[in-house]
Amino acid sequence: MDFDKIQQAAQFIDKNINIKPQVGIVCGSGINSIVENIQNPVIIPYSQIPNFPVSTVKGHKSQMVCGRLGNKDVLALLGRFHYYEGYTMEQVTFPIRVMQLLGIKNVIITNAAGGLNASYKVGDIMMIKDHINLAVNPLIGQNDDRLGVRFPSLHNIYSPQLREKFAAIAKKHAIDIRDGVYLGLTGPSFETGAENRFFRMVGADCVGMSTVAEVIVAAHAQMNVFAASIISNVWNEKDEKTATHEEVLQGVEHTAERFSLLIEELIADI
Ligand code: HPA
Repeated sequence: MDFDKIQQAAQFIDKNINIKPQVGIVCGSGINSIVENIQNPVIIPYSQIPNFPVSTVKGHKSQMVCGRLGNKDVLALLGRFHYYEGYTMEQVTFPIRVMQLLGIKNVIITNAAGGLNASYKVGDIMMIKDHINLAVNPLIGQNDDRLGVRFPSLHNIYSPQLREKFAAIAKKHAIDIRDGVYLGLTGPSFETGAENRFFRMVGADCVGMSTVAEVIVAAHAQMNVFAASIISNVWNEKDEKTATHEEVLQGVEHTAERFSLLIEELIADI
């Protein structure tokens, strides 16, 4: 982890915005609507930020949007970096490090995920209460003590307080939500039927190819983390078919707007 590179990026962003972001947001596949309500947005393309990678996946833009949302100064990322694209874990988690050096203490991480829990339906919103990491740990390598400790705890990393607040907001709007375990893989291939049966057996409610590395780095950075998935497709034991990327994008479409309003209210309540 190159501290100077992170600092260069953070200083560039700081110079180009006239707010002090308190909340960082990572928008998952097809969940760009979170940024639509940002007031006085300042848009910075990733390509302008020193040392920032550029995302390549359909449904992901490559820009940072800074402004006011839910009465807070926020910094939102449209487009994240996945390990399966060939980025190193350092690049995948670079934006979280930049948030860290900008002094951001709260991060909201979203994604589209495949449902494994038999009661889940396409379009469900799931708060992540815990994860199982079957991808790569982003903290492997020399530790930089300026960024965090060598052996960080992941106990209660998905903030129970933020989950309680989000659940109360959803309840107020009569929206049923889930609270489940996210299992993180590298992708890019979807899982086999045998893998999905196994993942379900060991307690995973959904599966995806992002988020976990970002959350681990946010934990290392001692941030408060709220993470949530929109269930874009549901694996079903009978036909055992796994998803396509188009299905994933379509699956989040109808929920993304409603989800974004809940996220905005959560930010107001942080
Ligand atoms: N599997 C893995 N990752 C995913 C899926 C899935 O079914 N849906 C969205 N991301």
